Amino acid sequence: MKIAMVGSGYVGLVSGACFADFGHDVVCIDKDPAKIDRLKAGQMPIYEPGLEDLVERNVRGGRLSFTTDLASGIAGAGAIFIAVGTPSRRGDGHADLSFVHAVAREVGANLAQPAVIVTKSTVPVGTGDEVERILRESGTEHRFAVASNPEFLREGAAIGDFKRPDRIVIGTDDEWARGIMNEVYRPLFLNKAPILFTSRRSAELVKYAANAFLATKITFINEMADLCEKVGGNVQDIARGMGLDNRIGAKFLHAGPGYGGSCFPKDTLALLKTAEDNGVPLRLVESVVKVNDSRKRAMGRKVIDALGSEPRGKRVALLGLTFKPNTDDMRDAPSIAIAQALDDAGVEVTAYDPEGMELAKPLMQHVEMSESAYEAARNADAVAIVTEWDAFRALDLDRLKEVARAPVLVDLRNVYDPEEVRAKGFRYSSIGRG
Ligand code: UDX
Repeated sequence: MKIAMVGSGYVGLVSGACFADFGHDVVCIDKDPAKIDRLKAGQMPIYEPGLEDLVERNVRGGRLSFTTDLASGIAGAGAIFIAVGTPSRRGDGHADLSFVHAVAREVGANLAQPAVIVTKSTVPVGTGDEVERILRESGTEHRFAVASNPEFLREGAAIGDFKRPDRIVIGTDDEWARGIMNEVYRPLFLNKAPILFTSRRSAELVKYAANAFLATKITFINEMADLCEKVGGNVQDIARGMGLDNRIGAKFLHAGPGYGGSCFPKDTLALLKTAEDNGVPLRLVESVVKVNDSRKRAMGRKVIDALGSEPRGKRVALLGLTFKPNTDDMRDAPSIAIAQALDDAGVEVTAYDPEGMELAKPLMQHVEMSESAYEAARNADAVAIVTEWDAFRALDLDRLKEVARAPVLVDLRNVYDPEEVRAKGFRYSSIGRG
């Protein structure tokens, strides 16, 4: 089947390349000529493990191509995915749907065969109805249906998540569209991926509900960590003890500096807006958003506290800047608030991140970027692990102690065993291991 993917960003590119790998004929379309030129030259616009090889293999196999021309790109496609961005709208936190609507208009104007138009972008409930209205108003004479197919992939593990999903959710009431979507996803059925057909509105809501729930789970364990620090207790044991209950599950119970990234902060806000507009306040999610925002700032204070009574003029090394490992994504990363809090307190900041420094630089201009973890730690009065990159899991602690001015380690991801680090002569603090 021919598939068109409109929008070659994170979701579009990964999904397009994976569909091609399953044998479909895929065209990835993007308005940005520079991005398309780079993709044609085999250069990835994002850092995602395995993506470059996947793209290269499928381009070579003739199953994957790139274009800026939407009309030719969608020609002959049985399924046209909309995978453009839905950023938070400046000012009000609503999802900005202008890109989705523009694509719907262009698809309507250029449709030359029957097709299912599938929204993969994370869109507020009711967007499918809008897309359908726009397509209808375009006057197209070809048969079409609009389906919702939210994406649950995680950055850094996106290809695996796409190929072995926990579930595939498809929202449509149209039998014909169901048949086409079954064909699109048939290659994944071999991996026993459960496919859940729902109404379009339910599918749109599933994505927001899942993300809000995961954000809640993280925030819950983060608050338990705060309590552990005060009353004495180990949050990792609490998480293990809770997680072994099948009703709770062990995942997303790692206490840390607060969630960030391209999805949780934006999607929780958008969900709150939808809820507010419909007179159904989601108080739990409201609290989660507030608690997480203030947590990121509180982490800055935690690092400052580790410096002792007079932080001004001291130096802190931040190890890891991206919102999580194996990505170069800096969106809503806790490191931004932490670096800001340190700067406000008159603390000098150096940093090292394996992939994120380029995107981090404009967000924290006062921070001096280093070539390595040890370079960053040189003459530091405290070293703080902010993102749990593998490279920071087995630091040479003797070397770290040698280059730093003071042996102080703040481990915001609980990567190290407190006893081991203290035995090396460090003053060590972590999250919720009171
Ligand atoms: C998330 C969802 O997992 C994915 O299904 C959705 O499609 C997009 O949003 P992603 O943003 O890539 O994916 O990252 P994820 O691995 O979920 O982590 C999100 C944030 O939560 C990170 O800042 C991470 O550090 C934090 N986190 C995650 C925790 O602090 N503790 C945990 O136990 C898990």
